[in-house]
Amino acid sequence: MSRGLIVAIDGPSGVGKGTIARRVAARLGYRHVDTGAMYRAVAWAAANAGIPLDAEPRVAQLAAAATIHVSDDLVEINGHDVTGAIRTPDIDRGASAVARLPAVRAILVERQRALGAGGAIVMEGRDIGTVVFPAADVKVYLDAAPEERARRRAADPAHAGHATRLLLAEVAAELDARDRADTTRQSSPLMPAADAHVIDTTGLSIDEVTKTVLQIAGSRQ
Ligand code: DC
Repeated sequence: MSRGLIVAIDGPSGVGKGTIARRVAARLGYRHVDTGAMYRAVAWAAANAGIPLDAEPRVAQLAAAATIHVSDDLVEINGHDVTGAIRTPDIDRGASAVARLPAVRAILVERQRALGAGGAIVMEGRDIGTVVFPAADVKVYLDAAPEERARRRAADPAHAGHATRLLLAEVAAELDARDRADTTRQSSPLMPAADAHVIDTTGLSIDEVTKTVLQIAGSRQ
């Protein structure tokens, strides 16, 4: 085996990308990078600086100048620990807003490519197999029925820190709105790469999905 694979995992909100990507990375001994956390951190920093999230040049300038650290237990931007602060309904919407801006995407995509350049990485997001690493060794697109994604998101402790406990129907409506924004935006819309393995995870356990992804990766090693 040479440098280690680049494993791209894409899919909509609440599908369980984070859980699967972390497990696959742990099993392969690879680094795991959650690119959504980078968009979230930029949205947090822009809001914190009073920059409107549709002010493309200003948000892009902030992103270009920012020091962003993303690991499994810590997300930092410009030295601020935002690990918990970026998992709120406000930042759900804010991240989707900044992710629409091509100038911001260009900056974060560049950083993501640098992080994955050496291989041995599992990177999750919306455009990893289509834009960030179109030549990734393994491309997986996870999907699940909307009700199942709403249930998974509502049960996710990382998203339970905010005061208002949302009803399942509200979570479902929020996810739907965000998916619509992510799939219909002009710049790198969410879609499976033509050569991605699409896995419908509805009714599958975390172990089953992890095993399937590891089998696909195993066939590429
Ligand atoms: O995966 P997540 O929910 O943490 O992502 C936050 C937002 O960022 C979501 O609206 C989709 C967007 N995103 C993106 O456009 N491209 C990525 N590679 C990762 C996330």
